[in-house]
Amino acid sequence: MCGIVGYVGERQAQDVVLGGLRRLEYRGYDSAGITVVADGELSVGKRAGKLGNLEKALGEEPLPPATLGIGHTRWATHGPPTDANAHPHTGGAGRVAVVHNGIIENFDELRSRIEADDHVFKSETDTEIAAHLIELQVVSGVDLPTAMQRVCQQLDGAFTLVAVDAADPDRVVAARRNSPLVVGLGEGENFLGSDVAAFIDHTREALELGQDQIVVLTRDGVEVTDFFGVPAEATPFHVDWDLNAAEKDGHDWFMRKEIFEQPRAVADSLIGRRGVDGLLQLDEMRLADEEIRDLDKIIIIACGTSFYAGMVAKYAIEHWTRTPVEVELASEFRYRDPIIDQTTLVVAISQSGETADTLQAIRHARTQRAKVLAICNTNGSSIPRESDAVIYTHAGPEIGVASTKGFVTQLVACYLLALYVAQTKGTRFGDEIGQIMQQLESMPGRIEEVLARADDVYRLAREHVANRSVLFLGRHAGYPVALEGALKLKELAYLHAEGFAAGELKHGPIALVEDGMPVLCVVPPRGRDHLHGKMLSGIQEVRARGARTICLAEEGDTTIAPYADELITLPRVPVLLQPLIAIVPLQLFACELATALGHDVDQPRNLAKSVTVE
Ligand code: M6R
Repeated sequence: MCGIVGYVGERQAQDVVLGGLRRLEYRGYDSAGITVVADGELSVGKRAGKLGNLEKALGEEPLPPATLGIGHTRWATHGPPTDANAHPHTGGAGRVAVVHNGIIENFDELRSRIEADDHVFKSETDTEIAAHLIELQVVSGVDLPTAMQRVCQQLDGAFTLVAVDAADPDRVVAARRNSPLVVGLGEGENFLGSDVAAFIDHTREALELGQDQIVVLTRDGVEVTDFFGVPAEATPFHVDWDLNAAEKDGHDWFMRKEIFEQPRAVADSLIGRRGVDGLLQLDEMRLADEEIRDLDKIIIIACGTSFYAGMVAKYAIEHWTRTPVEVELASEFRYRDPIIDQTTLVVAISQSGETADTLQAIRHARTQRAKVLAICNTNGSSIPRESDAVIYTHAGPEIGVASTKGFVTQLVACYLLALYVAQTKGTRFGDEIGQIMQQLESMPGRIEEVLARADDVYRLAREHVANRSVLFLGRHAGYPVALEGALKLKELAYLHAEGFAAGELKHGPIALVEDGMPVLCVVPPRGRDHLHGKMLSGIQEVRARGARTICLAEEGDTTIAPYADELITLPRVPVLLQPLIAIVPLQLFACELATALGHDVDQPRNLAKSVTVE
């Protein structure tokens, strides 16, 4: 939520900061703003709405030439998306400017304290208090880093703050607590960003700041301290993301490009997982074999799409390892007093690695002595950093707000985890694990086959532009796929879309079915389990009430024709792996329908890519 950029160097700060904001816009797009320091003064430009509004305004009236600046793209929490609430915010004297990601929980109390001294606030944000407080400090004579330390000591909540002082034109100072911040290390220039996308076209050497750290950025160096000025260490890392991966590559939307990247993303997530002896090896797995053997319960916590990946994982882990698995929304987990101890493995799934609900849930789990394993796509983000072990997915940067390649690579990581636990606990023979790995390794090719039929799905999607309500049915591992398909449609097309377990339909939701209502049905593979027949009964029940069924069924399934008004065929794969291919037509369907409706697919209304507030 919210993207932050900072720059100090030799180039024009306005250009560098706007470039960084362009790459971070997926984090929030309610408003954008930038401040540069030139000739001992702050110059601020900000506009409500997408970054394009600010770019247009600055195109007509650029900020003065400057080589130091900060910028922000906002996902509104406190105060509506107006020009006045856009960041950067300045102190009363206009000497200090601040951008912020997170929520300052005690802003009201701090604000009332200084309002009594005639301080006037220009916005409804929680952020503006930080600008006033830091400015009060520098006006009293302390330098900007000390001012930042003193103010951070007073703040409650989650924040990344970046500040500049007109009287200190060579430094950008930033602080981090529970919100992301990375430093990009250049030659004669340095950068700050909410994530590496902000500076990936300038440098690939980066520093990950720890909790409660402050960084002082000059052209020639970077100094890190804690909130009390004690020198501290940040973690260096190299960014190996391909710059092209952060571009649209000829597609109309990042999301569409990312859907088509899924074969590669799945293949990359499988690379290097088998040793010469054929045994699975998960390098990032820092849990001892004994700890895995002693596990008596796994709890998966995640939000949104990652939660649905966790639901699929439950089927695979329980089937292959006979270890009980609970799947829980991260936002609910710690509020129910969960029963966990050192024999519980908590698995946190998060594409961004910064989701506040998931982060708080793993912190809670660790206080209860549970081991935590993160499945994450973002190197160096908070969730893997605070976990005992990590399986990184290798999806590459996911820019579209609706997760696609993030989801399928999470599924791959879940399968790998399940097989690794099975191998370690000995619940599956090595040759069985080898066989499943081979099947997994063939999945990029199967996904390619589904993508080759994208045009058929697009045609179907365009036929449904007039529908206001769509249902999705699935069973077993197809049930989370139905939920994820519905989520994609809600997020992108703003339609009433709901996923149901097909067997549950008759217990109430079938009342929703109306004449002509589209129902997308994820049909389990035929002949491998008894679910297939039960699914057909469910489909029949909705057809009897006038639904128009769009069935996703494996090729060669001759039984499906009488049940399907429209048929999307899927390659033959094992039932547990079917989610990897079944989700693809549903992603394409949502992307195309939203496009046909004229919506912004990459930046759907009210959403942000990374939800860093609880
Ligand atoms: O980064 P995370 O995987 O932790 O994010 C979790 C959800 O916010 C995310 O999956 C969200 O539901 C997506 N917009 C779904 O497309």
